[in-house]
Amino acid sequence: QTLNWNPIQVEKQGFKHFMLKEIYEQPGVVRASLEAYLDSEWTPDSPSNPVRLGLPDRFYEELEHIQIVACGTSWHAGLVGCYLLEQLAEIPTQVHYASEFRYAPTPLMPNTLTIGVTQSGETADTLSALEMEKRRRLDREPKFAARMLGITNRTDSTLGHMVSDLIDTRAGIEIGVAATKTFSAQLVAFYCLALDLAVRRRTLTPERLGAIVEGLRQLPAQIEAILEVQERYIGELSHQFAETQDFIFLGRGINYPIALEGALKLKEISYIHAEGYPAGEMKHGPIALLDAKVPVVAIAVPGLVYEKVLSNAQEAKARDAQLIGVTAMNDDHAAEVFDDQLPIPTVDELLSPLLTVIPVQFLAYHIAAHRGLDVDQPRNLAKSVTVE
Ligand code: G6P
Repeated sequence: QTLNWNPIQVEKQGFKHFMLKEIYEQPGVVRASLEAYLDSEWTPDSPSNPVRLGLPDRFYEELEHIQIVACGTSWHAGLVGCYLLEQLAEIPTQVHYASEFRYAPTPLMPNTLTIGVTQSGETADTLSALEMEKRRRLDREPKFAARMLGITNRTDSTLGHMVSDLIDTRAGIEIGVAATKTFSAQLVAFYCLALDLAVRRRTLTPERLGAIVEGLRQLPAQIEAILEVQERYIGELSHQFAETQDFIFLGRGINYPIALEGALKLKEISYIHAEGYPAGEMKHGPIALLDAKVPVVAIAVPGLVYEKVLSNAQEAKARDAQLIGVTAMNDDHAAEVFDDQLPIPTVDELLSPLLTVIPVQFLAYHIAAHRGLDVDQPRNLAKSVTVE
């Protein structure tokens, strides 16, 4: 007897698409990265630094600024990273599209760390931006010397050879063109880097540090819980959007990049026009687009900007938009505002992106799948863009 098997099907391990499999791998990826970079023995009473990134001391000496260059989904991870570095470690940080930075760099700043974020380690614009930065800092006085860090999922890549220091995001090979698990792994890298710097710069109280570390450790199980509860619901909800032409995603603060990422995922694989916007900016233009045909997805989880996002969402509702909320579980207040809720466990707002991103990935996946599209290999896109 012979068995008929297709190696691609075997690799998908029963999932219909690689993207879905990779969405499901996220709890494991986040757990593995946290295990690699956070001391599992560490408790809030420990006098030591809980983060183990293995970066040399010269990285930290007199560090004054950070600049991040990246493209696509990695740029969104950079935006979350910027928020964390500024809010936790109080270090001024800028995020640039690599394709812009390479032709219009920031005037040279002293004592600056440049971080290139690229899952593939091969994106031409990101590599060129880093090259340019290295070149213009050559032969300058010591405070202007280049300090470079790569955050990548491929340490054997061109990036891996270009910079001497790396954070390996350890997500395993990602096959779906639309990045999912590598994005989550990049976020973990930024949480660890921001905490590492916060400890060294003494910007957090021991209680706050302890709470964040504890919160991070709970994330893998919380992602698992979202995956378990939501897939069926989002799968069914998505049916009604198979013919939708435009979507708006709203978020504020640390979840603004997740709104951008939700819109990007939807564009990439479903070919539906989608825009991510900081919710407070909606009134300055995009609100003119709204009517009953434009669903609005708002990320409204407890925290500093929760009430603000809810009131922005209400403005959309007044224009007849169908409102979908990524909200905390059992949030009755939000239930009054949203037509549909995609709930996540209640966590510190600062940690929420690793949870809020899961429903928006699912939404993009299921809408594309309902439209019968080639989710893993969307038209006109490549997994890594090695040309300018
Ligand atoms: C391509 C992919 C995107 C990805 C971007 C950056 O455009 O389609 O999914 O986010 O490149 O890729 P990188 O490998 O640099 O993270």
